[in-house]
Amino acid sequence: MKNRQHRKKKKLNFSKFRVLYFFSYLKTLACGGMIQSVTLWYVPWNYHEPQMGTYDFFGGKDLQYFLQLANDTGLLVILRAGPYICAEWDMGGLPAWLLEKKSIVLRSSDSDYLEAVERWMGVLLPKMRPYLYQNGGPIIMVQVENEYGSYFACDYNYLRFLLKLFRLHLGDEVVLFTTDGASQFHLKCGALQGLYATVDFAPGANVTAAFLAQRSSEPKGPLVNSEFYTGWLDHWGHHHSVVPAQTIAKTLNEILASGANVNLYMFIGGTNFAYWNGANMPYMPQPTSYDYDAPLSEAGDLTEKYFALRKVIGMYKQLPEGLTPPTTPKFAYGKVRLQKAGTVLEVLDGLSRSGPVRSTYPLTFVELKQYFGYVLYRTTLPKNCVEPTPLSSPLNGVHDRAYVSVDGVPQGVLERDKSLKINITGQAGANLDILVENMGRVNFGRYNNDFKGLVSNLTLAQDVLVGWEIYPLDIDGAVNYDIIYLLHHPKRSAIKELSYEVPTFYTGTLSIPGGIPDLPQDTYVNFPGWTKGQIWINGFNLGRYWPARGPQLTLYVPRNVLVASAPNNITVLELEHSPCSTQACEIEFVDEPNINATLQHETDKPPLFVRELWMGHL
Ligand SMILES: *[C@@H]1O[C@H](CO)[C@@H](O)[C@H](O)[C@H]1NC(C)=O
Ligand SMILES: *[C@@H]1O[C@H](CO)[C@@H](O)[C@H](O)[C@H]1NC(C)=O
Ligand SMILES: *[C@@H]1O[C@H](CO)[C@@H](O)[C@H](O)[C@H]1NC(C)=O
Ligand SMILES: *[C@@H]1O[C@H](CO)[C@@H](O)[C@H](O)[C@H]1NC(C)=O
Ligand SMILES: *[C@@H]1O[C@H](CO)[C@@H](O)[C@H](O)[C@H]1NC(C)=O
Ligand SMILES: *[C@@H]1O[C@H](CO)[C@@H](O)[C@H](O)[C@H]1NC(C)=O
Repeated sequence: MKNRQHRKKKKLNFSKFRVLYFFSYLKTLACGGMIQSVTLWYVPWNYHEPQMGTYDFFGGKDLQYFLQLANDTGLLVILRAGPYICAEWDMGGLPAWLLEKKSIVLRSSDSDYLEAVERWMGVLLPKMRPYLYQNGGPIIMVQVENEYGSYFACDYNYLRFLLKLFRLHLGDEVVLFTTDGASQFHLKCGALQGLYATVDFAPGANVTAAFLAQRSSEPKGPLVNSEFYTGWLDHWGHHHSVVPAQTIAKTLNEILASGANVNLYMFIGGTNFAYWNGANMPYMPQPTSYDYDAPLSEAGDLTEKYFALRKVIGMYKQLPEGLTPPTTPKFAYGKVRLQKAGTVLEVLDGLSRSGPVRSTYPLTFVELKQYFGYVLYRTTLPKNCVEPTPLSSPLNGVHDRAYVSVDGVPQGVLERDKSLKINITGQAGANLDILVENMGRVNFGRYNNDFKGLVSNLTLAQDVLVGWEIYPLDIDGAVNYDIIYLLHHPKRSAIKELSYEVPTFYTGTLSIPGGIPDLPQDTYVNFPGWTKGQIWINGFNLGRYWPARGPQLTLYVPRNVLVASAPNNITVLELEHSPCSTQACEIEFVDEPNINATLQHETDKPPLFVRELWMGHL
């Protein structure tokens, strides 16, 4: 959204955009513990420096506004300032433009990496300094890096560089700390003299052993579990994670009984709006919901788990008097009819104002300087493919999913690690269009250098395809500037009627009913009969939907994206198959989430939670 608009709204207390900021940051900023009314806030570097040297702290990204709000409400803040934050956030918060140097070693003493970190911290940390506790603000501690002991580089010079940089900008008084898996193995490369070492571990862990590990690095000082997992994350195509309240309550009790400090990760569930989700390896992107089975849900609702943990905390600390704030009401606005507005190919000129980049071989997103969303790769068929002819990505270089058509006729889907070959047909000279979706960059481990787009050559039968026209697509811009709506204008007659099966935009409006007090309220949008895509409401990118894979079926819609005074504009980009040719062309607004559906197609064997195994989290 446009910064100018945000700045104008800055004076309004809790304007629409601010509340959105709050929601978009629930995941990263408000996941903290509650015993001392402290929150642990994460700062995603890529959220605030979207292009190298371009900084964004406006509107939904106004970190100082939130620090002020915390201070005004008496909330203390622990800041995870990065550079790397993990958080199941795209590339763990590192900006994709770092990959412009192909061989960069992230999170190490690589000179280009350090230079970028130094510049960024030179912008971020001076803004934080007035909010340090000793300067009258809410920030009591600042975390440096995150779980660095789990990263292969083990570069003490890098940690020393960060320590020096943080001290330079924040002074000598503030407590700087690190977080690592609770074992000497993890602390070996994650802890550094001068940074207070804390640990993280899951319910069910041996609390005594975990804190003994911390003691190996910190013989004195507070015991701290800085990420105590109240639930767990999800991946598309795997079952929804649930961690029983009793398991968490039991370990929480042990932690508190040992006199230790604990941060509940997550305390409130969150949402990966737009394209912000990360992924784990082997490539498994996380869904839009980051509910996490946390004590407060994605919508901030009270759960049984909340009350179970509150009871444990009440054994050690006097609970605040008065009533618990109630769960917010949800509203089922019902069905909304959508109409086909046009295919991606039909609106291509509006989506790609700059036009195509020509290249013999495919270029990656980073080479195009487009970091998120979708890019269209076009070439022509070099020969007649009358018989089904294999189009393949021999080096598994479709990152991450490609929707393939020939002269507007859909051919199938290629997918990283899952579908490396499809058959296509078409005449020599026909346009071969490949819309490639970036489904989220790996946020953990050595695979952070996650290039997107066609990252290796495609072959048609034996031949390497060449002569590409590559269209960077600004779909969010097009949605915001009404380019997709222009298609309703009569010029369309010149356009050939195409199948519903190629990536297509649908639009519709939701009117909030009159005569009911306190509308709009939160809601959830359901996609009956739809397959996979992206949805915007009033230009706000709510995220990806993929009911065909699950487990998430509904997307959370905070009331703040809705207006009661005018119809709400809905844009859906369906990538594979809409219900519109056979069933009702509708989406539905319901009053309950469904993020735990039975999977239609379980994509793999039982989930290989490499990360959990490695970290000993579960
Ligand atoms: C934060 O709150 C404290 C205590 O209410 C107050 O003394 C201080 O001036 C506030 N700081 C800022 C930056 O508003
Ligand atoms: C937990 O760890 C401690 C310290 O290593 C050990 O003495 C104890 O036996 C462990 N408890 C369990 C139940 O394994
Ligand atoms: C492609 O077509 C060939 C020949 O018809 C067939 O044997 C093969 O199974 C098909 N491959 C795929 C991936 O559909
Ligand atoms: C495609 O193949 C050519 C010729 O072998 C090679 O020079 C080029 O680097 C490859 N491109 C990619 C993106 O792999
Ligand atoms: C919906 O789109 C129309 C037409 O472009 C625009 O005039 C209107 O302001 C939009 N409504 C909202 C709530 O943004
Ligand atoms: C999903 O969660 C709801 C509410 O907890 C529960 O009733 C339902 O059985 C769950 N469904 C599946 C498929 O696990």
